[in-house]
Amino acid sequence: MALSVQPLQPDFAGEVSGVDLTRPLSTDEVAAIEAGMDRYTVLVFHDQHLTDEQQMAFTRNFGAIETARGGNVTKPGEQRLPQGMNDVSNLGQDNRPLARDDRRRLFNLGNQLWHSDSSFRAVPAKYSILSCRLPANRGGNTEFADMRAAWDTLDPATKAEVEGLICEHSLIYSRGTLGFTDLTDEEKAQFRPVRQSLVRTHPVSGRRSLYLASHIGTIVGWPRPEAMAFIRELAEHATQPGFVYVHRWRQWDLVMWDNRQTMHRVRRFDDREPRDMRRTTVAGDAPTAEQVAA
Ligand code: OGA
Ligand code: MN
Repeated sequence: MALSVQPLQPDFAGEVSGVDLTRPLSTDEVAAIEAGMDRYTVLVFHDQHLTDEQQMAFTRNFGAIETARGGNVTKPGEQRLPQGMNDVSNLGQDNRPLARDDRRRLFNLGNQLWHSDSSFRAVPAKYSILSCRLPANRGGNTEFADMRAAWDTLDPATKAEVEGLICEHSLIYSRGTLGFTDLTDEEKAQFRPVRQSLVRTHPVSGRRSLYLASHIGTIVGWPRPEAMAFIRELAEHATQPGFVYVHRWRQWDLVMWDNRQTMHRVRRFDDREPRDMRRTTVAGDAPTAEQVAA
């Protein structure tokens, strides 16, 4: 059967069928998936029984793999998954749920806030590819918001205001929102804020999008409370139900999204039971704003 894409949510989320991601893909299949990403930005694949190696091989079709380094508080040697994989499960190396007060767990709770992956890196991520090895038994849906729709529906005065603004993003800000402030000096240095444009233009479709994330801590040149009030208002606009696709996970689902045009968050789930989710990330190719010298 040939690869095809059916809309789940018009022009935002599509379901791909007729492809086995455990095998090497043909050039045509890769091109069809890329075209699907450019049109929809969220693609869902069912029944993909991937190993970590196969997931990484699939990911490399779309660019270099971004490493997880600098994006979490897991110590070297404590990783459950091979390098190249992002562990977004609630599990330790023994494959058992982390203790309630484990700081890796508390840090990962930040994924329940709307965000775009790696917006806290100077060169932020392009695609994320998330494989569901074991879904939560209660809760744990992942929601995606269309940031192109968010831009398109802003009134002209707000568009003019937002245009050209630069935000500072850091894991320190998103985690700080939840009261997670216990970071070592090394972590604070690692999570130093980076600058990102508040408006992006997609290189293929030319569509513009708002580039928001809970990692934002201020707008350059603005008083901080005014910046955060404005960002909060924009985020409320961007995540209204009409712009959101809700994914209800089945085991072996794989969901792929374009971080340049979406935000996402996971909903609360029963954390005493395993939820095994593994992400690979396609690195972006350029910064969105000039950085200040360190
Ligand atoms: C991610 C993420 C949400 C989830 O993989 O980047 O935010 O559903 N995951 O676990
Ligand atoms: Mn994420």
